[in-house]
Amino acid sequence: MQRLLLLFIPLGIMAQNPHAADPQAPEAGRGIFRIYCAPCHGLKADGGRGPDLTLGVYTAGDTDEALHKVISRGVPGSEMADYNERLGADNIWKVISYIRSAARKDAARPTGNIASGEKLFWGKGSCGQCHLAGTRGRSVGPDLTLAGRRRSLAYLRDSITEPNKDITPGFYTIVVETRDGKKITGVQRGFDNFSAQLMDANETYYSFLKGDVNTLKREYRSMMPSYAKAFTPAELEDVVAYLYSLRGN
Ligand code: HEC
Ligand code: HEC
Repeated sequence: MQRLLLLFIPLGIMAQNPHAADPQAPEAGRGIFRIYCAPCHGLKADGGRGPDLTLGVYTAGDTDEALHKVISRGVPGSEMADYNERLGADNIWKVISYIRSAARKDAARPTGNIASGEKLFWGKGSCGQCHLAGTRGRSVGPDLTLAGRRRSLAYLRDSITEPNKDITPGFYTIVVETRDGKKITGVQRGFDNFSAQLMDANETYYSFLKGDVNTLKREYRSMMPSYAKAFTPAELEDVVAYLYSLRGN
């Protein structure tokens, strides 16, 4: 019994931020955050390609301990890497002090109607022609099943109105002209010095060797059309609210 207690007490202490009362910690953490985290979570931690961290509520759990765990270990299968080796446990606590200091009561929340956004997604927008959301749709573009968990509101909105602004890594456009003059355009599935794999808008998969075609180019633009004009501002907010609700529950 006594031995068990000895084991549990140090763990209990570890789970609390040792810098919680240190007024310097948020600033130190902010410096680390700017270098390692801002490229995805934004300079002010309010999100981008990664989720907004100023909301004060987290999929990983709201305690300091849960945040420490997710930052140390990452989220397998997502762009969120594990930072334990790179930063060390103590620096991660400082980053958490910064995240806590950046939490805001007025953080952006979705204002649109989820049910109406879902209708627009599968109907007027034909988004399911290219995207999976849960078990429905097609896989020409990125799977959106966890879009709300992985991305910020602003990023989701921009993805719809300005697809070329921040292209999802690995989903560039490949354009091939074959020897007999046929032009094939599709979303990148693979690309190296010798070959390219792509999927066209009809979900047909192609693989080409560079030597076998006239030209084979990777273009830094999206196959996704902009919906800036297709949706009214209210419709756009509805679709954003629907995407934000996609969290794999
Ligand atoms: C390459 C992009 C990228 C970088 C760099 C990055 N993250 Fe993330 N982060 C993500 C994504 C994407 C998720 C969502 C993962 C998921 O739940 O599928 C995430 C999730 C998180 C979460 C959990 C959020 C929640 O609601 O559960 C925290 C906390 C977090 N990141 C903190 C950090 C910190 C701190 C750093 C720097 C040390 C960092 N991230 C660097 C992309 C990134
Ligand atoms: C012709 C196929 C196509 C259609 C139709 C389409 N998309 Fe896309 N979408 C893509 C491709 C390809 C990408 C990846 C390149 C990029 O970042 O734009 C993408 C990227 C996205 C992203 C960013 C995903 C991420 O995780 O980074 C979102 C969000 C998105 N689309 C939402 C939508 C919505 C909402 C609609 C309907 C209103 C839609 N798309 C219609 C092909 C399509």
